[in-house]
Amino acid sequence: MAIRPFEQHTPQIHATVYVDDTALVIGDVEIGEDSSIWPMSVIRGDIQRIRIGARTSIQDGSVIHVTHDSRFCPGGQPTLIGNDVTVGHKVILHACTIEDYCLIGMGSIIMDKAVVRSRVTIGAGSVVPPGKVLESGFLYVGSPVKQVRPLNERELEFLEYSAQNYRRLRERHLQTIGADNAAASAPAPSPKPPRPAPKARTRRPAPPKRG
Ligand SMILES: CC(C)(COP(=O)(O)OP(=O)(O)OC[C@H]1O[C@@H](n2cnc3c(N)ncnc32)[C@H](O)[C@@H]1OP(=O)(O)O)[C@@H](O)C(=O)NCCC(=O)NCCS
Repeated sequence: MAIRPFEQHTPQIHATVYVDDTALVIGDVEIGEDSSIWPMSVIRGDIQRIRIGARTSIQDGSVIHVTHDSRFCPGGQPTLIGNDVTVGHKVILHACTIEDYCLIGMGSIIMDKAVVRSRVTIGAGSVVPPGKVLESGFLYVGSPVKQVRPLNERELEFLEYSAQNYRRLRERHLQTIGADNAAASAPAPSPKPPRPAPKARTRRPAPPKRG
């Protein structure tokens, strides 16, 4: 896996986190217990910090970045993600805040200074514009996102289920990697005796032509 420092910052990743070999985590990044970072995700904490809580999944191909300090954004803007958040495949989170137990639908984009309050579902392919605050307990969809309706009991339950599901899947991947590593470090099996060389195959001569 690629976990790289940037200047004085080295990512701080809890020992129970699964970071896929193909993911990239750089700089001022902290990731909490039982979280998972799936293939091809990029988490780049170079010009501001990124914090990811416990039991949160960042799924395949997602990109998380931040905004730097300038007169356009004094102090810069970090990306802060809470506990038990499901970030779907290919999501972009840019200098925004996501509170606990949210589900960010696949392919969504969440822009600078947007805040997603706890227990929100964002439909796949949505765009949350800069600075927008999404109210706790609602479904939002669209580009730009609009509030659709309050989440029902089943959907609220699903937010917890989803976080637990990814926590369990993380465990299975960690076990598989452990098994692979054990297989790689096991003594090589003794070489098999060489097989006898195959007999040379000869073509039969073509029968003489008649007539
Ligand atoms: C939005 C979502 C939660 C479904 O909500 P829902 O209320 O059950 O939606 P329905 O299927 O009843 O559809 C209601 C309407 O919204 C539309 N709709 C559904 N998902 C939509 C989306 N992501 N964006 C825009 N419109 C959407 C439907 O086409 C339907 O439109 P219609 O009334 O004109 O026919 C779901 O479609 C979704 O996007 N889930 C995210 C899944 C995901 O990305 N998970 C992460 C991977 S692990």
